[in-house]
Amino acid sequence: MTFVAYIAVSYQVLLIKQSTADIIIDDSLGYGRDFDGIGGLSGGGATSKLLVNYPQEQRDQILDFLFKPNFGASLQILKVEIGGDAQSTDGTEASHMHNSWEENYARGYEWWLMVEAKKRNPNIKLYALPWGFPGWIGQGTRSPYANPGVLADYIVRWINGARVHYNLTIDYIGIWNEKQYDITYIKSLRSVLDQRGFQDVLIIAADEKWEISADIKKDTDLAKIVHAVGCHYPGTLSSNDAVSTGKKLWASEDYSTFNDEIGAGCWARILNQNYVNGLMTSTISWNLIASYYEDLPYYRDGLMTAVQPWSGNYVVQSPIWVTAHTTQFTSIGWKYLTHGNGVGKLPKGGSYVALVSPAGSDLTVVIETMTHDHSICIRPALPKYTVKAQNVTITLKNHFVNITHMNVWFSKLSFNGTPSTVFIKQNPLVFVSGQANLSLGLDEMITLTTLSEGVKGSYPPPPSSKPFPLPYKDNFEGYSLSEEPFMLAPQIGTLEVVKSQNTSHGQVVRQMVLHAPLKWCPITLSFPYAVIGDHNWRNLFIEIDFEIPDVNATDGVFVAARVNEGGCEAFIAHGIYFFAFPDARYIVANDLARTKVLSQGSLPYGKGWHTLSLLVQEQKAVGAYDKKGLFSIDIPTIPQSGFGAVGTDNFGLADFDNLYIATHEEGRAKMKNYFRHHVSQSLYFIHEQN
Ligand SMILES: *[C@@H]1O[C@H](CO)[C@@H](O)[C@H](O)[C@H]1NC(C)=O
Ligand SMILES: *[C@@H]1O[C@H](CO)[C@@H](O)[C@H](O)[C@H]1NC(C)=O
Ligand SMILES: *[C@@H]1O[C@H](CO)[C@@H](O)[C@H](O)[C@H]1NC(C)=O
Ligand SMILES: *[C@@H]1O[C@H](CO)[C@@H](O)[C@H](O)[C@H]1NC(C)=O
Ligand SMILES: *[C@@H]1O[C@H](CO)[C@@H](O)[C@H](O)[C@H]1NC(C)=O
Ligand SMILES: *[C@@H]1O[C@H](CO)[C@@H](O)[C@H](O)[C@H]1NC(C)=O
Repeated sequence: MTFVAYIAVSYQVLLIKQSTADIIIDDSLGYGRDFDGIGGLSGGGATSKLLVNYPQEQRDQILDFLFKPNFGASLQILKVEIGGDAQSTDGTEASHMHNSWEENYARGYEWWLMVEAKKRNPNIKLYALPWGFPGWIGQGTRSPYANPGVLADYIVRWINGARVHYNLTIDYIGIWNEKQYDITYIKSLRSVLDQRGFQDVLIIAADEKWEISADIKKDTDLAKIVHAVGCHYPGTLSSNDAVSTGKKLWASEDYSTFNDEIGAGCWARILNQNYVNGLMTSTISWNLIASYYEDLPYYRDGLMTAVQPWSGNYVVQSPIWVTAHTTQFTSIGWKYLTHGNGVGKLPKGGSYVALVSPAGSDLTVVIETMTHDHSICIRPALPKYTVKAQNVTITLKNHFVNITHMNVWFSKLSFNGTPSTVFIKQNPLVFVSGQANLSLGLDEMITLTTLSEGVKGSYPPPPSSKPFPLPYKDNFEGYSLSEEPFMLAPQIGTLEVVKSQNTSHGQVVRQMVLHAPLKWCPITLSFPYAVIGDHNWRNLFIEIDFEIPDVNATDGVFVAARVNEGGCEAFIAHGIYFFAFPDARYIVANDLARTKVLSQGSLPYGKGWHTLSLLVQEQKAVGAYDKKGLFSIDIPTIPQSGFGAVGTDNFGLADFDNLYIATHEEGRAKMKNYFRHHVSQSLYFIHEQN
């Protein structure tokens, strides 16, 4: 059936039913499509970075709000990034194969997250997708498709790693996030999956728009191996081509909207209307949870927010409860009713979808009346429409005709400063001879269901919000090997805890990426670095030990303060950067690319460990090398503030240890000591009284 035919059917039904009922629930004409679940996306990139190091108590609570059935969002799909060592929006996630000669399944936090999700809901489906790739995948080119067999091998190794190391079954695999697809590769992926015992792993293609539909229609082999067409930000519409493939249609990434009440309105509208308008049977939120530092791109575009592992504070925003309206009363495999017989638009605006359990016995109806201005998503533009308060009559027919009452869950988003009413159980709705009346206001969600399981989960309020605590110290001894250090958020390159060759240093953290990855961002980024702390930091002391190894090493290292960019813009970051180079030079620059050098000179470099110390205070910066004063300079007014950062000059190995970040007061005391042999006039700033 074509998309046009659907519209025609529902239009006719709307005309006929005005005199009788506003919503007809009738399974006598069969079912619509199968429901494939609502999900959240961790990664794309590094969006769960700060979640993993929450205190256990709050972390378990957060995971319950996301995954525990009949508690909170009760998500049905978890989609994760297959780390590719490349910046993928809010950071980089580590690849399981930085190099062709090694494999490691202890890196990053997505494994951990998948295990935690499965613990809470063994039926949750897992979906994985790469954003970028380690450079070697390109086989000398900058394309991941240079050798489709190499890429397929790399991806299937990840799927196998999930099984072997974590007993995780990956249900769905994607192609390349929001980039071109390659049909030869898709076929190669299918055959490598089949050869290695992963016949049940289904391919979603191509995580961009609907373009691949035309190829699916032309190519019967491709049609056989694509399980669902996954489109991003479809604006609730699918194309005629997509519908006529006969394939499942998914909004395989959607939402990406600030998680206030308008974000909740966006999510409520698209969860219903992606099916009503576009026949999409799964919708996945980017992102699952906003767990990345404020001021990185798309801050708080997740279903909830957890950005303070140091305090344990987190916020369960309304999108969690909007999700619950569908997920707590359906399962993957339930069936939508047909358009006009349980699925459609309300006479005065808003929409409804009815879903039926596989046995045909249970019924859930989700109704939303989100107004235009209160449900705008980040993209695409939302054409004007109106919604009015309305009374609707619901008529149950055929198998449902004898239902006498349905349970009612209610939300009303508030935009006048008072708290929203979210996910409240109300008195059951009584049906008389299969009919009931419902009064609908604006910006409301109502779920009617024959199920009685729904629960609005709760925990005591989390600890209150606090600023990033200073001083902050990390000697990296407390980590498992290969773990990513907690607060350091890699923007370019990746950091991993390794054992130092020098036993007196114990465990250290290493920049791991040797060559530029196959990028996801529009620009190829060099200068591997990680940000830490608070983007509002102005005056700061930051110190770190480093060693540049003998083989595969980087050309230099740096510490920095007031770093003002991350994400795909990481390469244009400004701040105060103190670089040290093994050819016995240092540079202080105002930008990462060192186009604006503030100071430079020589330093005594020798093999082994060294220490870089940087203090910025108002318009001054002071630096020390191996705890001896090196420079004291005036610095530009811009940027005014930013993160602390640690990084390297280019791809290649560098080891770091004993990170120490403190207030400028504490930093001054240290610097006074480091500069105690200097009497230079220019150091008045250090030696003057506080
Ligand atoms: C692996 O997971 C399956 C469920 O997917 C479970 O039945 C089995 O017991 C698990 N095996 C181990 C060793 O934990
Ligand atoms: C809905 O019905 C109630 C009770 O019959 C009435 O008070 C109200 O005005 C109606 N609302 C609308 C929008 O028609
Ligand atoms: C509804 O009730 C009537 C009268 O008891 C009965 O004949 C009919 O089979 C019932 N329908 C369903 C679908 O249960
Ligand atoms: C629904 O409202 C209509 C019109 O106001 C009324 O005739 C009917 O009895 C109501 N139905 C129920 C089940 O209350
Ligand atoms: C090991 O590190 C310590 C502390 O940085 C240093 O004093 C020592 O010389 C190093 N040993 C070697 C063999 O490099
Ligand atoms: C350095 O790179 C070579 C390949 O160029 C590799 O074989 C070797 O294992 C690397 N060494 C380290 C310490 O990463």
